[in-house]
Amino acid sequence: MDADRRRRAVTFIPGRAGSARLETLPAPDVGEGALVVAIDAIGVCGTDRELLAGSYGEAPPGRERLVIGHESLGRVLEAPAGSGFSVGDAVAGIVRRPDPVPCAHCAIGEWDLCENDRYTECGIKGRDGYGAEIVRIEPEFAVRVDPALGVAGVLTEPASVVAKAWEEIERFAARSSASTIRDVWVTGAGPIGLLAAMMGVQRGCAVAVYDRAESGPKPTLVRELGARYATEHSPPPAGEAFDVVIECTGASPVILEAIRRLRPNGILCLTGVSRAGTRIGVDAGAINREMVLENTVVFGSVNARRAHYAAGAGALAAADRHWLNRLVTRRVSLETWQDAFAPRADDVKVVLDFSARHGAH
Ligand code: BGC
Repeated sequence: MDADRRRRAVTFIPGRAGSARLETLPAPDVGEGALVVAIDAIGVCGTDRELLAGSYGEAPPGRERLVIGHESLGRVLEAPAGSGFSVGDAVAGIVRRPDPVPCAHCAIGEWDLCENDRYTECGIKGRDGYGAEIVRIEPEFAVRVDPALGVAGVLTEPASVVAKAWEEIERFAARSSASTIRDVWVTGAGPIGLLAAMMGVQRGCAVAVYDRAESGPKPTLVRELGARYATEHSPPPAGEAFDVVIECTGASPVILEAIRRLRPNGILCLTGVSRAGTRIGVDAGAINREMVLENTVVFGSVNARRAHYAAGAGALAAADRHWLNRLVTRRVSLETWQDAFAPRADDVKVVLDFSARHGAH
């Protein structure tokens, strides 16, 4: 595909539900980055659905519409000499860009820890996403993807988020040289939960995954990992506790249960972005008392810096290809793009497939 050609893109007006449309945009501006990339696929996640429902997101300054898509997989069409990339490389784009100030963290490439909220995020906050046939990416914000992964390469971004969560967990665990992470509980068997479980198994942990789904692909995917599957009707036995819990639902009762299930010195990583406004009664005094007396750690984790993308890509490369490919449960063509954003019961990862147009598959 000609890099200068106009391209189709899925755009929306942040804050306005029902505003998404497929439209033709001019070629991306040279200033957006030296790499010209033909997008093969974008992954759809809960954040995208919230964006399209009007409850999240921000347009670039002076613009009304934003191109959606922060989980990307593409092929390099043009790469300047010295960029570190070659034509044909499979790549994913990094989501966040440092704030312009920059804060102390952004100044050293740790934009995932930005503390002044002035960062931008492709397809989410103030910067166009990757949901277009052609995009430009700055080489320093592109990540090489193992081409053997095929469409599962679109999991690079969610894998980066999970790799960050695991890295932080291990950092907290390292406060004692006697710590071992043996028993891990993952709540939620969506893509983040399944990748968290996968990385737990890769570390030699005994992993249990909890989800509402009693049928569909999730129980099988979990068991094939060598992990245990639990649901509301078959929860982990009362009193069973874990060294680490990775919470991926954002659901208040599940979060409380996750705190209760921590062993002394246990670590709970919260990754699910919840909606505000749901109130449940909690005995904060009892929770505090237990956390203090047991040295437990509860922390939130979002986004990823470059090193986490590398770690995520490494975890994907080490995973079973067949299993990974089955996380992509639906591929929707650009012609029926709306279907990609309408969740179905048996979905794990849905991708919007841009590849038909330029014959990638
Ligand atoms: C993305 C993160 C992003 C977060 C908040 C998530 O869906 O994976 O990269 O930081 O949304 O906008």
